[in-house]
Amino acid sequence: MIPHSRPTLDQTDYENVLHVLRSGNLVQGEQVCGLEDTLSALIGVSGGVAVSSGTAALHLALLSLGIQKGDEVILPSFVCSAPLNAIRYTGAEPVITDVDRHTFNIDVHDLKRRITPKTKAVIVPHMFGLPADVDDIKSFGIPVIEDCAQSLGSRYKGAYTGSFGDLSIFSFYATKMIATGEGGMVFSNNESLTEIIRDFRDYDEKEHYNVRYNYKMTDIQAALGISQLNKLSFFIEKRKNIADIYHHECQNCGFEPPVVPSDRDHIYYRYVLLLDHADQFIDKMTKEGVACRRPVFKPLHRYLSLSGYDTTDWLWKRAVSIPIYPSLTDNEISKIIEAVKLARSKHV
Ligand SMILES: Cc1ncc(COP(=O)(O)O)c(C=O)c1O
Repeated sequence: MIPHSRPTLDQTDYENVLHVLRSGNLVQGEQVCGLEDTLSALIGVSGGVAVSSGTAALHLALLSLGIQKGDEVILPSFVCSAPLNAIRYTGAEPVITDVDRHTFNIDVHDLKRRITPKTKAVIVPHMFGLPADVDDIKSFGIPVIEDCAQSLGSRYKGAYTGSFGDLSIFSFYATKMIATGEGGMVFSNNESLTEIIRDFRDYDEKEHYNVRYNYKMTDIQAALGISQLNKLSFFIEKRKNIADIYHHECQNCGFEPPVVPSDRDHIYYRYVLLLDHADQFIDKMTKEGVACRRPVFKPLHRYLSLSGYDTTDWLWKRAVSIPIYPSLTDNEISKIIEAVKLARSKHV
């Protein structure tokens, strides 16, 4: 079975981790600082704070803005439940928007009409590796938290995603663009926000008591993150090459290729096909030895029993994510294409 996702690890990754294990300094230390500095320099943001997950990064980003019970935070429906959890941790009210039919990202018009005097922030995921309409969203004047869990290395108008928001967050979960097992990072150019986040991340040896969190990353994870980051451009190139092959082959069997507006690039964290019956197609692909998934397990408005999210519903019923990652071999790519063709022909 070809797995839906798989990290791409090599000898350098193993050696970097072993080096930390042999040093005996396992917890947050110089490797974590190294990962923060390297990634901040790459993204073009002055402050980066490494944490234990993307969810922890979202939670601290919201707390640094002072978000609490009584506030509202906007987020799209077509995303995993991590941003919703982070909002709930703070006691604030999530306000869900629909998404754009072509890009899977926040529908800016729907977002605009959901802004109220209680709106304190908007979480903007760049879904599947394609940047959202950041400039339009910023024009509303609400604090923006870019959710770059799926978009490390993608660019909007020439600059990296993660450099636009008041804050931005990343995830380094095992299947993300770079993997540390679990892990994440918050970025901001606003030093007072990153100071608050650093204070929240670590509970010990503080002069004054406050509720704080143990959201630290270990040096073992960070060492892996640094060696993964050295390969980021290779990872992106591989993903783009595979996507080019998929565009060509999938178009031949009647699929719409992903829509990429001309002012942004797509790093293909996910390659999503739209079909009439996603579940049946996934079953057929499994029988052919290829694991596929819904790219979002369940839209947030469905968890919250809300209605009126027609585009999200339309996409959710049709979207299927096929395997795309740098460690796919040429044989595996051919097998995936053959399986898509076969499942598609049985499908119609
Ligand atoms: C868009 C998005 N935001 C946040 C997260 C949460 O990241 P983590 O799993 O590291 O907590 C994910 C993870 O899958 C994600 O896809």
